[in-house]
Amino acid sequence: MTEKISNNLNDLDYERLPTHIGIIMDGNGRWAKKRGLPRHFGHQEGMKKVVHIVEVCKELGIGNLTLYAFSTENWKRPSLEVDALMNLLVVFIRKELDRLNNNNVKIIILGDTSQLPDIPRNEVERATNLTSNNSGMILNIALNYGGRQEIVMAVKDIFTDVNKGIITIEEIDDKVILEYLYTKGQPDPDLIIRPSGELRLSNFLTYQSAYSELWFSDVLWPDFTGDDLYSAIIDYQKRNRRFGGI
Ligand code: FPP
Repeated sequence: MTEKISNNLNDLDYERLPTHIGIIMDGNGRWAKKRGLPRHFGHQEGMKKVVHIVEVCKELGIGNLTLYAFSTENWKRPSLEVDALMNLLVVFIRKELDRLNNNNVKIIILGDTSQLPDIPRNEVERATNLTSNNSGMILNIALNYGGRQEIVMAVKDIFTDVNKGIITIEEIDDKVILEYLYTKGQPDPDLIIRPSGELRLSNFLTYQSAYSELWFSDVLWPDFTGDDLYSAIIDYQKRNRRFGGI
C-alpha cells in the first residue's frame, strides 16, 4: 500500500528504534459504526492495517512486534463477531503466510490456542511451524491472550518445576519469571501503542510492560497509518527512560 508520509523522517533516529513494539488494535467496531456498517467490516479493515503495519515495521528493522488480536475476554462478544474474528485470522494466515515466511518473519502465538476452533487452531499451528526457524523479525500475535492468565500459567508452571526439582524457590527471580511467559527469550516491549482514545492496557503484556513507554492516539485502528507509527516512535525517542534511576 502506498501512503504519503508527512512526518519528517529525518526526525527518526534509526540507531535508537524500539526493539519491541506492542499494539492494542482498538477501534474497529467504532470505525464500522461511524459508517453504518456491521462491526465485522471494521475488523476486516483492521486486518488490512495489520498487513501494512507489519510491513512498515519490517522495513524499519523492528525486531519484535506484538499485536493484540483476541483477548481472553473477547469470547464474551456475540458469536457472530467471534466467528468473524476467527475467520479473519484464517484469511490472514492463508493470504499472508508465504509472504511473511519469505520475508524471514517468525510468527509466535501468545495465548492458549487449545481453546480455538479447529480451523484457526490448525492454521496458527501451520504458521508457527513453517516460520519457526526464521530470524528476521518476530511477529507475536496475542490470541486468546490475557496478561493475568499468562501470569497464572507461569506461577503454575514454576510450581510444577519446583516440585520436580528443576528449579529451587531461591532461584526464582524476575528473569526466571520472564522465561515462563509466552514471550520467553524476547525483550520487554519498549513501546506500547493504543489507538482509539482509550487510555488503558486491558490485560495486555501485564508483566512485560512494567517499564514500557505508552503512546495513545484518537485514531481508530483501521485509520492508523505508517505515519502514525512514525509519530509514536519519534515521540518515544524524545522520552527519558530512567528505569527507576535518575
Ligand atoms: C478491538 O476493536 C479489536 C479487536 C478485538 C480485534 C482485532 C483484530 C483485527 C484487527 C483483525 C484480525 C487480526 C489479525 C492479527 C489477523 P473493537 O472491536 O473493540 O473496537 P471498538 O472498541 O470500537 O468496538
